[in-house]
Amino acid sequence: YHVDWDASAAEKDGYDHFMLKEIAEQPKAVADTLLGRIGADGRLLLDQMRLSDEELREMDKVVVIACGTAYHAGMVAKYAIEHWTRVPCEVELASEFRYRDPVVGRRTLVVAISQSGETMDTLMALRYAREQGARVLAICNTNGATIPRESDAVFYTYAGPEVAVASTKAFLTQLIACYLVGLYLGQVRGTKWGDEVRSVVRDLSDLPSKVDQVLETMEPVRALARELSTATSVLFVGRHVGFPVALEGALKLKELAYMHAEGFAAAELKHGPIALIEDGVPVVVVVPSPRGRSVLHDKIVSNIQEIRARGARTIVIAEEGDEAVVPYADHIVRVPECPTLLQPVVATVPLQVFACEMASARGFDVDQPRNLAKSVTVE
Ligand code: G6P
Repeated sequence: YHVDWDASAAEKDGYDHFMLKEIAEQPKAVADTLLGRIGADGRLLLDQMRLSDEELREMDKVVVIACGTAYHAGMVAKYAIEHWTRVPCEVELASEFRYRDPVVGRRTLVVAISQSGETMDTLMALRYAREQGARVLAICNTNGATIPRESDAVFYTYAGPEVAVASTKAFLTQLIACYLVGLYLGQVRGTKWGDEVRSVVRDLSDLPSKVDQVLETMEPVRALARELSTATSVLFVGRHVGFPVALEGALKLKELAYMHAEGFAAAELKHGPIALIEDGVPVVVVVPSPRGRSVLHDKIVSNIQEIRARGARTIVIAEEGDEAVVPYADHIVRVPECPTLLQPVVATVPLQVFACEMASARGFDVDQPRNLAKSVTVE
């Protein structure tokens, strides 16, 4: 009798790649990161807090710093934090931050996002911010890493160890962390959203099963990736929080499939990138919910119409029941209904699967793409 399993396959729980395993673990990672975060009084519980509510109330600016995929989570944080707290929020690549003489001081809350907690660019930016008197809150997936050790407050994401170089489950949990931090600040500062924390938390608690639902419907996305595996370029567009999702989709494709990919804010297409669109170019469009901010939805539907008219092959990520996109979509990927701000949690998943399958179809190492490291500890 012969068991056809080796140690590494066992570690991968039978998945072909760590990345696939980690994509599949996302519902649990999201649930674990939400677990126990809300105290009996409805207040958020951070893992380490060396900042008082008074200090947090005094902050007049939030600056999010991060690299790579974590930076995309930071872009989403900006939308959530400004909407829920009314405190101006900037997001900046950690590597750019300290070299441009940024305006930071005692009343700046710096949020450093890092899966590993060891990224040198992020660490150096954090140290610089603290030298200027800023207070730092770290969002990190690695207990006791350098970035959380050097921060004033820490929110750990409970994604568990992420082995594949390309970040998936850590990203989803970074989004959750950003939402919770935004809600917490809103609460401390007494904004209207501070009062509505419970209702947003309810929406957040629905996310694990929604991510599960997305995972169950990925076969057509895989088939599409295989079909497009000889494309020379794929474009991704989105608006609002769909814009960072588009950037993340493009980054994943570059990292894993070594394919040229770009993400754009949909309305920027007409200011330049639309010139790239020719017959058959795949364009992935992330469409916000038609409910709520419907203006945004209608605008993006006309963006899809424009690119389709120029010959693009449109791959549309849209909410279930959104019929407005149907006439302009060559392919539709459905995601469950979700408030716009939370949509990145479900909309990113098909893009991860797409990139992973594309890499396999092109014969590349999914878990260890060329030239990349899981954690970059040099500047
Ligand atoms: C490396 C990884 C990326 C990651 C980035 C930031 O470049 O390849 O996947 O997003 O570092 O890593 P961090 O650990 O700080 O989140």
